[in-house]
Amino acid sequence: MDWHESADRSGIDTSVAHSARVHDYWLGGKDNFAADRAAGDAVIAAYPGIVKSVRANRAFLARVARFLAAEAGIRQFLDIGTGIPAANNTHEVVQAAAPDARVVYVDYDPVVLLHARTLLTSDVSGAIHYVDADLRDPGTIVREAARTLDFSRPVAVMLIAIMHLIVDADDPYGLVAQLAAAVPSGSYLALSQVASDIEPEQMAEAARRYNRLAYEKQRHRTHAEVSRFFDGLELVAPGVVAVQNWRPASEIEACAKSAMWGGVGRKRLAPAAWYRGAGGRPHLRREPSRRSRATGSPRRRSASGRVGAAP
Ligand SMILES: C[S@@+](CC[C@H](N)C(=O)[O-])C[C@H]1O[C@@H](n2cnc3c(N)ncnc32)[C@H](O)[C@@H]1O
Repeated sequence: MDWHESADRSGIDTSVAHSARVHDYWLGGKDNFAADRAAGDAVIAAYPGIVKSVRANRAFLARVARFLAAEAGIRQFLDIGTGIPAANNTHEVVQAAAPDARVVYVDYDPVVLLHARTLLTSDVSGAIHYVDADLRDPGTIVREAARTLDFSRPVAVMLIAIMHLIVDADDPYGLVAQLAAAVPSGSYLALSQVASDIEPEQMAEAARRYNRLAYEKQRHRTHAEVSRFFDGLELVAPGVVAVQNWRPASEIEACAKSAMWGGVGRKRLAPAAWYRGAGGRPHLRREPSRRSRATGSPRRRSASGRVGAAP
């Protein structure tokens, strides 16, 4: 049975485009359906640079993961918005540098879940686990991730090419702040998202077309809006830049154009907004939920699945 048949049997909605599958289409993958390709093509027609842009973002992901594992000494990774596996997945990059690294992937897309079970396996001493959860429910993410990650030690929270899928009504800054509050000093936030102020007219038209055809709506952001995600963190040089300009490893990488801002920040000060409960598990202090007032409950309930061998 190929994965398309599995998708049918899993009741995956193929009638409307989903970001994971559209992204897969742009990256040249096969895990997409007609609706995804139509949305992908509509964006290409508005902004022909999109394919180069998503590739530049994947290269950014790999450089950031390598930096965190090899230079910053991070051994725990929480990668939210995993996507359908492609080249240079986070666990491959970080475990090449640090075989004992532990990686927790989080996504809410059923196709990603289908792939995670078969592809995300670890043959080194570290661990890879997958949590089927919604970024708009960070409490569940942290609780499930704590089965694999030790939240008293630094964690790299990776939000790569996901925040443009979180609209303002879902309180994107509050969500990132809750995740930052759940990790200790010395932890990192790595984040990239689609820009509204690079090729602004083309990007605005791309968003309009995508939003007409897709399940998740896009909210592109300016450099200042993306920088705000790092408030309270110490930005790692060169700061928030177009993703191809974040420590490019070659002239080719530096010249790849994108319409995405990205950066890495380090948590310096002792957190004020989190505490430890019984058993040492981290708890998030929940504000009276602006998100739930605005949008109601998250769209899907979450569950976790272990796909790698724990050491
Ligand atoms: C554009 S892809 C990025 C994949 C990968 N991080 C990369 O940069 O190549 C966005 C991913 O985020 C996931 N996603 C979008 N909204 C989400 C949410 N609210 N909670 C969890 N995952 C979400 C999608 O399912 C998709 O797999």
